[in-house]
Amino acid sequence: MTILVTGGSGFIGSNFIRNVLQLDGVSIVNIDKLTYAGNAENLSDVEGSRYYTFVKGDIGDHELINELLTKHQPRAIINFAAESHVDRSIVSPEDFIATNVVGLFRLLNASKDYWSKLDETGKAAFRFLQVSTDEVYGSLEAGDPAFSETNRFEPNSPYSASKASADHLVRAYHQTYGLPTLTTNCSNNYGSFQFPEKLIPLIILNALDGKNLPVYGDGQQTRDWLYVTDHCDAIADVLNRGVVGETYNIGGESEMTNLDVVRKVCSVLDELRPSISGESYEHLIEYVTDRPGHDRRYAVDITKVKQELGWTPKQTFESGIRKTIQWYLDNQEWVDRVRSGAYREWIIKQYG
Ligand code: NAD
Ligand code: DAU
Repeated sequence: MTILVTGGSGFIGSNFIRNVLQLDGVSIVNIDKLTYAGNAENLSDVEGSRYYTFVKGDIGDHELINELLTKHQPRAIINFAAESHVDRSIVSPEDFIATNVVGLFRLLNASKDYWSKLDETGKAAFRFLQVSTDEVYGSLEAGDPAFSETNRFEPNSPYSASKASADHLVRAYHQTYGLPTLTTNCSNNYGSFQFPEKLIPLIILNALDGKNLPVYGDGQQTRDWLYVTDHCDAIADVLNRGVVGETYNIGGESEMTNLDVVRKVCSVLDELRPSISGESYEHLIEYVTDRPGHDRRYAVDITKVKQELGWTPKQTFESGIRKTIQWYLDNQEWVDRVRSGAYREWIIKQYG
């Protein structure tokens, strides 16, 4: 079975590809534009595998996608490709519309053309899986029930609005053309290979460098954290056993305030790599200007994926954060290479 993965050189996509290549009989074709967030090095360990093909390209390049579909005849397409950082979407929303909406639309169109020419068995087996986010549902107040698949969309940032648009298009391609689609809406991921613009790796690396740990606003915003390989397992379960046309919420049942996350990272670092002064890394915490339109709380109801597909997260936040911090401590060369060029410019623009 061949799967066309888009955006597979980013954080979640690279973890997914590594997991799937351990299975017998699965080949992966990864098309990635290698934006600042994409890094071919994330998959250097599988580069030589005859089951892995990398193509540098844009999901919006209709001709290239057609060519890849014709050549590799995939049984499934999994779309991870996206601009994924909320703060960047506030500063430069256009890139988010270009990839997350227009790019996704072109990818869907190419997929529909390919799928419509398959024989009946091929048509029945084909799946288009859209990897989406819980942010499409907007923000919860304390005490509100967690997001379920039937919550209405209320996106608040250009990023979440672009992902919500994409989800609507995926739904429309199923309803109108019969394309066998699946959508997953997942909460905040953390783990190895995450680009250090996102909260957890940013805090780990800033602490190790003795830099301030920027907490937006009052730090009481809540996120539902999921270890990345648990998300990858959920995507595989939805791909293999999900009901066509359905959406599945994925989450860690692990709600924490940002301040508690930052404090936890500090306490694990205090244990694994104590600072030279012996002082806790917590003294580096600094409250900074809040994100505009900052969503207060996300929480995901995972009853459907649990009951229908039998998926549950394997890692707790306690076990996952230790693995994550250890990975960043063990992979200093990856960190050094990633933190060059475009990354430095972004950090200066955002944090001064
Ligand atoms: P990421 O930013 O680490 O990776 C995105 C990848 O997409 C990069 O490799 C990038 O080069 C590639 N890409 C960007 N534009 C492209 C284009 N036009 N054509 C081809 N490739 C392109 O993102 P991530 O955190 O791995 O997220 C992957 C997907 O999961 C995204 O769709 C995101 O919205 C979704 N998601 C992320 C999280 C999270 O917490 N990180 C949670 C839920 C859903
Ligand atoms: O909920 C799923 C989403 O999670 C994904 O769809 C996005 O792609 C992913 O980036 C993530 O979005 P968030 O905005 O929640 O993640 P981020 O790591 O940027 O921020 C997590 C929280 O921490 C958020 O409330 C903002 C806050 N924060 C973030 C940064 C970078 C800070 O307080 N300080 C910071 O420096």
